[in-house]
Amino acid sequence: MNNPASITTKLSDLRGILAQCAAAPADAPWSLPGQSYVDPSLFQHECDTLLRDGWHCVGRVDELTETGDYLTLNLLGEPLLVVRDGREIKAFSNVCRHRGMPLAEGHGNANRFVCRYHAWAYGTDGALLRAPRMKNAGFDPKTCKLGTFHCTERFGFIYVCLADTAPDIDAELSGLGDLIARYQPEDYRIVHSAGEVWQCNWKALVENFMEGYHLSVVHPQTLHGYTPTGLSRKGPSGVGFTSYYANYPDNIPARGEGAPGLDKESKHRSTLFAAFPCQVASVAASLLVSLNIRPLTPTSIEVHWTMSVFGDALDGDTIDQRIALWEDVNREDREKLEAMQVALGSVHATGGALAGEDYEGTVRDFLVWLARQDAKRP
Ligand code: FES
Ligand SMILES: [Fe+2]
Repeated sequence: MNNPASITTKLSDLRGILAQCAAAPADAPWSLPGQSYVDPSLFQHECDTLLRDGWHCVGRVDELTETGDYLTLNLLGEPLLVVRDGREIKAFSNVCRHRGMPLAEGHGNANRFVCRYHAWAYGTDGALLRAPRMKNAGFDPKTCKLGTFHCTERFGFIYVCLADTAPDIDAELSGLGDLIARYQPEDYRIVHSAGEVWQCNWKALVENFMEGYHLSVVHPQTLHGYTPTGLSRKGPSGVGFTSYYANYPDNIPARGEGAPGLDKESKHRSTLFAAFPCQVASVAASLLVSLNIRPLTPTSIEVHWTMSVFGDALDGDTIDQRIALWEDVNREDREKLEAMQVALGSVHATGGALAGEDYEGTVRDFLVWLARQDAKRP
């Protein structure tokens, strides 16, 4: 494929280039040009379409175990209040129905959410319980509720979709369950979560996390010993996900027993998967790490990541070591992505040939998914 050394900032051109890249033959895959990672009009278009239409992982189910447990976040400009209300976890708009104040910050537990501006109070079901001194004839508190978004649980993760009509998450992730069910992902227990802002485009982190090509180069001390590039193997993909296996060398012992009956092969590798658009994760016998990407601008993201462990096999010191290791790994990736982000603005950032199926086949899967989502809109 020929990519001229010139910059186009026309949205229609960038959409056309995406379609071209995705249509490249499987044995001659090609990456997106730099403009696809910097252009504000493309980013806005993505926000309005495939990002808003997608299911986004916002945390782990075991972060919200008691009624009233809540967490807050901003997703694509929408302030969200995610709350356990009895058996269900619900996603509300974190915006007071009176004049728009956010109702809660951070995370915690509350049996009601009292607005700190004029003290309107809402229940964990989003209903307005109290609006002091309100005698306005046109106002009926009984019909006043917080705005809601779609919210569901799969694999122990909480997913939210901002679209009016959410896609069928089971169709999107069909096949992912078969891939990771053996690890019993819903039984992992969260031990750590953190958030930080990275100066890179959201697609760059999806691609980075999902390809094994860089492992030995970028992570020589942290990952190469366990998951060298040469042992990366493409895993299955489906409508809305892709995966690869980061296999451990034969001389490395399995790290933990994991779920009962977990097969030897699954104990001897990490399975990395992306649930498009914005979740990338790694599951292994004892450890489940998820990076939940929240696009902020064309060139910045919030990365909210969680670490969960299986059973009690890992003691506190070992868990601390794993957290420190993942902090190092994330820092190594972040440094590369932030440096690359600057270079992607160049006229010569035209995109390049991708490596083969086992190394960057997942990147091609992502481009195909992006193009298919994009084609749904005129
Ligand atoms: S803005 Fe919330 S009570 Fe006024
Ligand atoms: Fe990496």
